[in-house]
Amino acid sequence: MSGVVRLLEEIAEVGRSRESGGYRRFAWTAEDATLRAWFRGEAEALGLEVVEDRVGNQWAWWGDPDAARAAGDPGVVTGSHLDSVPDGGGYDGPLGVASSLAAVARLRADGFTPARPLAVANFVDEEGARFGIACAGSRVLTGALPADRALSLRDGDGLTMAEALRAAGRSTSSYGRDDEALARIGTFVELHVEQGRWLADTEHPVAVGSSIWPHGRWRFDFEGEANHAGTTRLADRHDPMLQLAALITAAREEAAAHGCVATVGKVRVLPNGVNAIPSAVTGWLDARGADEAAVLRIVPGLEARLGTTAVEESYTADTAFDPDLARSLAALLDGVPVIGTGAGHDAGVLSSHGVRSAMLFVRNPTGVSHSPLEHAEDADCEAGVDALVTVLRDLAG
Ligand code: GLV
Ligand code: MN
Ligand code: MN
Repeated sequence: MSGVVRLLEEIAEVGRSRESGGYRRFAWTAEDATLRAWFRGEAEALGLEVVEDRVGNQWAWWGDPDAARAAGDPGVVTGSHLDSVPDGGGYDGPLGVASSLAAVARLRADGFTPARPLAVANFVDEEGARFGIACAGSRVLTGALPADRALSLRDGDGLTMAEALRAAGRSTSSYGRDDEALARIGTFVELHVEQGRWLADTEHPVAVGSSIWPHGRWRFDFEGEANHAGTTRLADRHDPMLQLAALITAAREEAAAHGCVATVGKVRVLPNGVNAIPSAVTGWLDARGADEAAVLRIVPGLEARLGTTAVEESYTADTAFDPDLARSLAALLDGVPVIGTGAGHDAGVLSSHGVRSAMLFVRNPTGVSHSPLEHAEDADCEAGVDALVTVLRDLAG
């Protein structure tokens, strides 16, 4: 079994749901701790030095990042994340981390000596599945998400991130933006499974990323009045579930009207009893599209139609990766396609912060992601490692 496939096998049972076959790997849980320990162990076995930044992102360095930074030639970082959405696939995130470790192992075995330090990163809480904000690890690292706001975010059980960190045995006293860790990154390359079908019908197992669509998450809260499902006449009801239903259909219509996509994939119903009219309902809207102005028209359209005000939980503007870097990596990889994506990534957050960043995508024959049906063939995972090795040799050589 090859390096990347073996590494993915090693963590295949961590956080796997027996019911769905998908993964439930949420930030600062026992599953997350297992994955972080695995990452540390694998990196140390490669002779890398693992350090954490003020947020808890893990960086496994080959070479001295501070000496390089002081010399004005900061390091090359590759990596991704190990957390998942609820019932997510096994590749979104872990493929990037495992491929990075496999690429470093290959470079070591080949006798490569990096001219500048090289690191593998594991970003914490990329999906935002537990606390609601995607890419929380890189957003706090860069200051895009203030530490006090992040620490006060609550999970579905009402636990704050600060409480979750403490429960995971971590101090929150120095949690926050980390300019020192950022200054160590000269270039960041994130390899990721493709989350659509662009490559599936081509002969290419790998592509280079060009851009990420603007995307955001908004919360709609609807208040009602709890009452008995059998004894309350229809005319007497204040049922907020009807507004949620209106939100769901209106979101689809607004998205279609503006050439975007919109999803209500998460709801909270209080008290959530089959024989009780709800007292309150919350729906979370995820909206994205190629045209930023169009994306930003969706929520005002919904607010006007529903007569309510949404709360913006996070928004990421249109992100274009360094076009010269994307072009040069595509040329280095013998002219692989350069494609955009509607999925968010830590590479996008770093790029928006001014870090020279790039992405490699590995073909996904199902085109499905955020689902157990997400897939990548072993041979394509290998091709991804080959591509990453070529890129790292070039960038760190
Ligand atoms: C992360 O995968 C996202 O695009 O939401
Ligand atoms: Mn994802
Ligand atoms: Mn991802």
